[in-house]
Amino acid sequence: MRLNFWLSKVYPWIKSFHIVSMVAWMAALLYLPRLFVYHSMAPVGSNRSATFKVMERRLERGIMTPAMIATWCFGLGLAGTPGVVDWYMGWIWVKLVIVVALTLFHFFLVRCREDFSADSNRHSTRFFRMINELPTVALIAIVVLVVVKPF
Ligand code: HEM
Repeated sequence: MRLNFWLSKVYPWIKSFHIVSMVAWMAALLYLPRLFVYHSMAPVGSNRSATFKVMERRLERGIMTPAMIATWCFGLGLAGTPGVVDWYMGWIWVKLVIVVALTLFHFFLVRCREDFSADSNRHSTRFFRMINELPTVALIAIVVLVVVKPF
């Protein structure tokens, strides 16, 4: 009861930080596969490849993973705030399914980064170009769902 009261008071703050952290998470989910596109074209063992390894590790450890954790924490905070979500509506469930898919995508990118780091990437440049579009589609769908709440 007390936690509910406190969550209601800080609701605009939690929402602000939810939006800030999701922007950082999305930026990293869009940028990391783009780095993989160029990294997959660099010869193994080259200076260029070594630079990409550093950029990818910093992006993942410094931004992508902390931003994902923050987005989940603030999002669950909003979900637990009384009166914010009508759980009988469909949009929140579809959003949650997309968010879980984005989280799986996140861990897939972490795996790819580790493979690149060990010089054992198994995917083509074309593959990374294609998966680069997925977070954009998810972002558009989520924003429409949370703002329009169409169903
Ligand atoms: C990680 C798990 C997530 C959970 C549990 C979650 C949950 C929520 C909840 C409960 C709200 C409040 C809805 C309302 O005020 O009507 C919200 C708002 C919002 N969420 Fe999420 N969310 C998550 C991830 C995301 C992601 C990945 C994005 C963007 C790609 C996103 C974008 C937004 C936006 C833009 C709002 C503000 C909507 C408004 O102004 O009313 N969320 N979220």
